[in-house]
Amino acid sequence: MRFEPTAETRVLVLTGAGVSAESGVPTFRGSDGLWEGHRIEAVASPEGFAADPRTVWRFYGLRRQGALAVSPNAGHRAIAALEARLGDRFLLATQNVDGLHRRAGSERVVAIHGELFKSRCVRCSRPFDDDATWLEGPLPTCADCGAAVRPHIVWFGEGLDPSHLERVADFIVDAGPMLHFFAIGTSGQVYPAAGLVDAARSSGATTWLIDLDPDEGYATRFEHVLRGRSGEVLPRLFAAD
Ligand code: OAD
Repeated sequence: MRFEPTAETRVLVLTGAGVSAESGVPTFRGSDGLWEGHRIEAVASPEGFAADPRTVWRFYGLRRQGALAVSPNAGHRAIAALEARLGDRFLLATQNVDGLHRRAGSERVVAIHGELFKSRCVRCSRPFDDDATWLEGPLPTCADCGAAVRPHIVWFGEGLDPSHLERVADFIVDAGPMLHFFAIGTSGQVYPAAGLVDAARSSGATTWLIDLDPDEGYATRFEHVLRGRSGEVLPRLFAAD
């Protein structure tokens, strides 16, 4: 099957951990929910950071190292190539924090769950430029106010950036029935990302799910469900001719 956009077609892509799986980045729900004996919530929540910032920084430091050691795959590249054809008629909302979409050439990217290589002050939110791994030595502090610096990641119990949600919602409304919404490599368990398919459907969009092992309940909300690895399905689906 090949997706053939017309001159009017708009495309919103939502990606999840499955898109980076073929690059060697582990997915979330495929693991046992533990990291070095810590519950994942303990290293990915404001409470966990307040209780033990060193452990949290070690977790993200190792994820930074891991992300630097891998490369974008054919799925990331197919999404970037589709954007190159559509320009402003395309938007990518990613739940992935690994930066692989940008490294593959994607430009119109909304990183709704944050970015692994960004940090900010816990008190004044000043962005912190140094993207070191902080695996040892003193932890980073804010140059302005001296408070702790934390990873710029949306943690359990935290809301998404309202400007990100607005950009995605506006894109859906503006596109109306011209929209094709693709959810790729995501289990659809985490809201509000999991609700985007419903918003797209109610404005008349055509909806597609591409996943190696689609979540049954999530899949019922899509018109087209393609089962397979994104690195194999997307280059064919998005082939230009
Ligand atoms: P999940 O780990 O929940 O789901 C990954 C999905 O990718 C599953 O449906 C797999 O079947 C599928 N998959 C695995 N390998 C694939 C491949 N090669 N090609 C295509 N699909 C493949 O990850 P997400 O849905 O991204 O949030 O999880 C959503 C959010 O939950 C994450 O962003 C994270 C987590 O809590 C935050 O960090 C805020």
